[in-house]
Amino acid sequence: MCGIIGYVGSKAAVPILLGGLKRLEYRGYDSAGLALPQTDTMLAIKAVGKVSKLIEATRQHPNTALAESSTSGIAHTRWATHGAPTESNAHPHFDKSQRLALVHNGIIENYRSLRQKLIALGHEFKSDTDTEVLARLIGEYYQGDLRLAVASALRQVEGAYGIAVMSANQPGEIIVARKGSPLVLGIGEHGCLVASDTAALVAHTQQVIYLDDGDLAKITATSIDITDLNQTPIDRSIKQLEPDAGAIEKGGYEHFMLKEIFDQPEAITNTLRGRLDLAQGKSILAGMGTSTRDLAEIRRIVMVGCGTSLHAAMVGEFAFEDLADLHAEVQQAAEFRYRNPLIDAQDLVIAISQSGETADTLAAVREAKEKGALVLGLVNVVGSTIARETGRGVYLHAGPEISVASTKGFTTQVTALLLMALKLARGRRMSQERGEALAKSLAQLPDLIRSVLAQNDAIAQVAQHLVGQEHIFYLGRGPFHPVALEGALKLKEISYLHAEGYHAAELKHGPIALLTPGTPVVVLAPESPVRDKVWSNAEECRARGAKIIAVVTEGTEAPGATAVLTIPACEPLIATIPATIALQLLAYHVARLQQCPIDQPRNLAKSVTVE
Ligand code: M6R
Repeated sequence: MCGIIGYVGSKAAVPILLGGLKRLEYRGYDSAGLALPQTDTMLAIKAVGKVSKLIEATRQHPNTALAESSTSGIAHTRWATHGAPTESNAHPHFDKSQRLALVHNGIIENYRSLRQKLIALGHEFKSDTDTEVLARLIGEYYQGDLRLAVASALRQVEGAYGIAVMSANQPGEIIVARKGSPLVLGIGEHGCLVASDTAALVAHTQQVIYLDDGDLAKITATSIDITDLNQTPIDRSIKQLEPDAGAIEKGGYEHFMLKEIFDQPEAITNTLRGRLDLAQGKSILAGMGTSTRDLAEIRRIVMVGCGTSLHAAMVGEFAFEDLADLHAEVQQAAEFRYRNPLIDAQDLVIAISQSGETADTLAAVREAKEKGALVLGLVNVVGSTIARETGRGVYLHAGPEISVASTKGFTTQVTALLLMALKLARGRRMSQERGEALAKSLAQLPDLIRSVLAQNDAIAQVAQHLVGQEHIFYLGRGPFHPVALEGALKLKEISYLHAEGYHAAELKHGPIALLTPGTPVVVLAPESPVRDKVWSNAEECRARGAKIIAVVTEGTEAPGATAVLTIPACEPLIATIPATIALQLLAYHVARLQQCPIDQPRNLAKSVTVE
């Protein structure tokens, strides 16, 4: 999704802005631009496509010397919402005088009516964007005090925004504001920064201030002054960034996705660290901040999330029901606030989000809090909006996930859900003996995963069966049903092949009509109480000429399968993790064979901060 970086200080701004945009690339975008204050105008440079194009355009710009001397500026990567990815739609956008520049993440929902009003005042729009409307509106209010003008304009605006605004008249200040779209300020030794996420800041500072909705701030080289839209001062504390926030290099792997797949033994070790009491068969999750009484009063668990996080929630549903005897359900976060969710104080709502910034999940958090539920976050990015708004929960500690396709996000989410389920289960009916066995299995997860990663080369061979296929199906049931959905999602998002995950028993109720001789069907058939039933479904496909790619427990049979991927023996809930990793590798190798841009697939954004 869109990215923002702004800098004001004593160093050359251009390298800081372009470096920041590079670090924001993982969010997904389709054009980029920057604006630098000059004597009586804002110099703008824009490019469609990758940041490397903007770097080139900056190098070639006739005004390079001026650009290089600037010590402040704002820059943006745009993921198109209103209008195609063109130079004219790329940010920054400007007011009528061209002296005022704006970069914006989010969506101005009432932009049409505002645009009409501005047209009536003589404005001629140069882009199709909602952002240009806001830039021009600020210009209408500007009478020398940029912060006042921004506040006045924002009072007219409905929707979501994270913005950074500069005026050529005040080159030493940037005005920033946030509502529904994250912004974080950085305090560096040689100046101050603003960015839409910490990835763009870590090269310059570890000291940051997270803005909250409603905050408006003026940053200069040496000061940060935060108020609300009515100029009431706001005090926000300075936080120290996690040391690993900067660990975003590929580490010798061809793609971030492959690195992140191979990171998983360590990521899961970090998720588990200090949280398992093997002797007592319990989990310790202090961040949940719940008393034994709180836990005893929970009647139902509702998990909300989107995409891969939704699939993790579906595994969690089995975990809470099987292990903790607790009624659990999963709701698509985007639907939650529109369906009159029947939530009350005895419900525990768990918001699952790798980024902690997904707009729909955040809205579900707010809705659930309003209804009085106990709300916990299951989040990876420390200090993200969902982490802060839930105030308690479980951090995943997976480390930065850069590849747009989530991998270690999913497996650490499932691990954290299993830890939560163990905690709740031991407070209810689960025996110590059973708790000890489960805790021991969880502790073995990193080794189980290593044995799947060791099959990387073999999985690369199996990938050839999927290349170029028209349809590919993934089948599973029980906790392996969400694994099938996740395997298919991974394949479609990075290889652009059409893949669907189904409950194994559902195939014959319709989708089986799509099977033709040679159609690949990936069957999740590790050891489980329903393993034989799943295998019968595989046979039904094979009888129609499908090629079966089986995922089975080591030492078990997969008669007639074209290819077999194995996972080590462990109980089904735990086995969802190595099974998913086998499918992540499969998707990765198919996408590689298809020569796809694996880390930044077309049309996708890393965190979806619009509804
Ligand atoms: O950051 P989140 O976990 O809230 O993101 C949710 C989805 O947008 C995300 O999982 C998406 O589906 C990924 N591209 C999947 O790989």
